[in-house]
Amino acid sequence: MKTLASCLFISAAVLASAGNALASEALAKKYNCLACHTVDKKIIGPAYKDVAAKYKGDAGAEAKLIGKVKKGGAGVWGQIPMPPNATVPDADVKTLVKWVLSFK
Ligand code: HEC
Repeated sequence: MKTLASCLFISAAVLASAGNALASEALAKKYNCLACHTVDKKIIGPAYKDVAAKYKGDAGAEAKLIGKVKKGGAGVWGQIPMPPNATVPDADVKTLVKWVLSFK
């Protein structure tokens, strides 16, 4: 019985995190991030996997990237700038940055 209960618990947790990832991907589509980014290939902007790898272990990365996504900017990945995303609500920017950093 105990095993069954923990098994159910684990599948619920897996489903919940898959749901979060889908919700974040929907946000990325909604705010057009995916016009310039994909998870695993560089197009105009860097692949989100590369972004996650670059900031791995950097405790300040989340705050820094939240600011960068809002204000835009260039010079970290090349000379092409990311335009500001000032109309995206703060809570959604945070969700998106956490999602990007989750691709390690
Ligand atoms: C018009 C194209 C474009 C759009 C739209 C866009 N980006 Fe970017 N993004 C870029 C480019 C180009 C860079 C690289 C900037 C640099 O080299 O500093 C970048 C960089 C980033 C980085 C890494 C920043 C760093 O300093 O390392 C993150 C995170 C990111 N984008 C997230 C997002 C999110 C989230 C959205 C949607 C709200 C978004 N981008 C929309 C083009 C875009």
